[in-house]
Amino acid sequence: MNEIQLHDKHFELFISSEEILTKVAALAKKIEADYEGKEILFLSILNGSFMFTSDLLKNIQKQLEVSFIKVSSYSGTSTTGRVDELIGLATSIKDKHIIVVEDIVDTGITIDKVITLLNASNPASISVCTFLYKPSAFKGNSVPQYIGFEIPNKFVVGYGLDYNQLGRNLAALYQLKETN
Ligand code: IMP
Repeated sequence: MNEIQLHDKHFELFISSEEILTKVAALAKKIEADYEGKEILFLSILNGSFMFTSDLLKNIQKQLEVSFIKVSSYSGTSTTGRVDELIGLATSIKDKHIIVVEDIVDTGITIDKVITLLNASNPASISVCTFLYKPSAFKGNSVPQYIGFEIPNKFVVGYGLDYNQLGRNLAALYQLKETN
């Protein structure tokens, strides 16, 4: 599928599922090497990072914990700049090595807020692993340590990311077409 329509908008293929899986496996190996001898608690941010988290963790051959949390900040194709509290953090993160797993770091507002909220519970360390990073949109404090793909400042869907709740199930990544 080279082109798709979701609601009123058209999207074109941007990154194939093969390319995604190769990159995700490489990220997993890097994390494995960097955290040798350490136990990791992955905190996956729903909804967008479910697919990335699944593929990433399947490629990590060591014992680990994973938990899913939720924040709400977005509607439609532009940021509202609003981030609510973390929902669903049931396990204690005190003295744990945390890797926050995100679908995309765009302005960085969401991830900054998440890090601030998590830091209040005194983890041993926090790093961020994001599938996508838009450097030209970024206004946050710290660039994610682990990045799948750096992409231009264009709206994307697929591999967990949605446009008004559609498109999350697509195995590849699609970019908004200019001629919408
Ligand atoms: P930030 O706070 O601006 O960094 O935005 C983070 C959140 O915005 C992500 O977790 C996504 O849910 C959403 N988002 C940002 N850019 C896109 C995009 O291009 N497609 C779909 N969702 C996006």
